[in-house]
Amino acid sequence: MSARAQRYTPLQIIVHVYAWSALIMICFDLLAGNLSANPIQEIEQRTGRHAITLLMLSLACTPLNTLFGWRELIQRRRTLGLYAFMYGALHATIYVNLDYGFAWSLLAQTIGEKPYILLGILGLLMLTPLAITSFDLWKRRLGKRWKRLHQTVYLIAPILLLHYAWSKKGDLFALQGDIVRPLIYSLIAGVLLLARIPSIRRSIASFRRRALARFQKRSAAPGARQRESYD
Ligand code: HEM
Repeated sequence: MSARAQRYTPLQIIVHVYAWSALIMICFDLLAGNLSANPIQEIEQRTGRHAITLLMLSLACTPLNTLFGWRELIQRRRTLGLYAFMYGALHATIYVNLDYGFAWSLLAQTIGEKPYILLGILGLLMLTPLAITSFDLWKRRLGKRWKRLHQTVYLIAPILLLHYAWSKKGDLFALQGDIVRPLIYSLIAGVLLLARIPSIRRSIASFRRRALARFQKRSAAPGARQRESYD
């Protein structure tokens, strides 16, 4: 196998393909005329949704590694986070440029009427230093502060989820309309945040070790070995 082929693992390929798929689909639908009557709004919504999904996937990497011991997920966390930032920035640029044509006074007026936009701006501003410092050079430079800085993602995610839910015109209490999806995302984010609490994290890790030990013991049992030899 060439060194180039060795550099890409299946998970890495899946991550890149999934990340670019939204942009490719947008371009395809744009060229094919498959977008709605308000194409700018649709592109804005699609990029926003893809950004938040990528952010959630990056948050899921650490708990899934704790549960399954799949260390490669930790390496993919950065790529997913960077793609989330890229789509978040694209989503914001489309809004400010294509929707408002950089009309800042009109924008300020809309922000006053729709506070969820302020949450989006805050979320994007908070994501920016994380994206910049996500590289190894900054990790080495910042030392212990790097971890603390990157832990702010657990504050950023709820801010952006609130931005998402608030932008929808559903009825939260009747679980009606567009609110269901942001609500499901928020529940998943809540579980992921809980899984970060050290005592819960330790319990998950010890559950995995016990399950693995039981599995190894069972496969090493004489009956199992005999069965294997019949196969
Ligand atoms: C300067 C920053 C941002 C601005 C100005 C902004 C603006 C907006 C606006 C105006 C909408 C409503 C779109 C519509 O329904 O017509 C929206 C929705 C949304 N935004 Fe943002 N946003 C920002 C940052 C972000 C970031 C960083 C994320 C995610 C990482 C995000 C995720 C979303 C999502 C998921 C929606 C809902 C999409 C849907 O309707 O399905 N936004 N945003």
